[in-house]
Amino acid sequence: MTVHACITGSPVSYSRSPLLHGYWLKAYGIDGDYGREEVPPAQAAEFYRSLAARGYAGCNVTAPNKEIAFSVLDEADENAAALGSANTLWLEDGRLCGTSTDGYGFIANLDASVPGWDGARRLALVLGAGGASRAIVHALVQRGFERVVLANRTLERAEIIATAFGKKVVPLAFDKASEVMADADILVNCTSLGMKGGAALTVDLSRLRPEAVVSDIVYVPLLTPLLTAAAARGLRTVDGLGMLLHQGVPGFERWFGVRPEVTAELREVLIADLRASGQLAA
Ligand code: ATR
Repeated sequence: MTVHACITGSPVSYSRSPLLHGYWLKAYGIDGDYGREEVPPAQAAEFYRSLAARGYAGCNVTAPNKEIAFSVLDEADENAAALGSANTLWLEDGRLCGTSTDGYGFIANLDASVPGWDGARRLALVLGAGGASRAIVHALVQRGFERVVLANRTLERAEIIATAFGKKVVPLAFDKASEVMADADILVNCTSLGMKGGAALTVDLSRLRPEAVVSDIVYVPLLTPLLTAAAARGLRTVDGLGMLLHQGVPGFERWFGVRPEVTAELREVLIADLRASGQLAA
């Protein structure tokens, strides 16, 4: 019997998840499909509660429904519970279960792209305090970083995340980020700065040590001004597309029973699609 899954949210038209999961379904010869469901927040709770009746084995959840999805779960795993949001849902004996795979995707991408990136685990500097930042801060603490400094323009948002995850997370004003730069093993941009058509992220990287890794969750463009500046200094860089690919792995395995691989070819398929749609320069 064909297994059905989908991406849900509003809007979902831009989502690359159908391309990602469609690629894996074909690659592994699985009798399944992965579609799109436009689910406005007002209908979200009802939609997720009736997932089984709609014929789905599970789904992904994107903005703005991740918190609503979490609130209707019968069972939230530790990640979802820590974040209060879920991006991957599945059914187990009729019970709606959920997790958040953003943090997993972030870490798995670093593990794959820059082996040994977390050798020291002393200090991670995270810029931005939105939903993605929350997941990444949590993942960095879980990975064993002694300190995660969270710098945000609105200090209060950084303080809220720090309060949720304990003393290892230290909130900081955005314009003070350079003060901890010299101690950072990794710098992560979780702000929207650097996105195509928007303002660039301009931070002074001169104090970063040569072993530091610079990572950006923005993937349009692939080479953000931040990553370009980091590469120019000879630092190791990790772009945001890999996180998108890796965050899909746990869901695919849940629904379709095969743990899929993130390959260079898959990455090229996504890049080609982003180029064809005009988002990435040819
Ligand atoms: P997400 O998609 O991860 O949930 P978001 O909630 O839209 O993200 O948050 C975007 C992040 O980019 C925030 O940390 C925001 O800072 P504020 O909390 O102060 O709004 C940050 N950001 C956006 N524009 C910025 C700018 N011009 N300078 C500094 N930070 C900026």
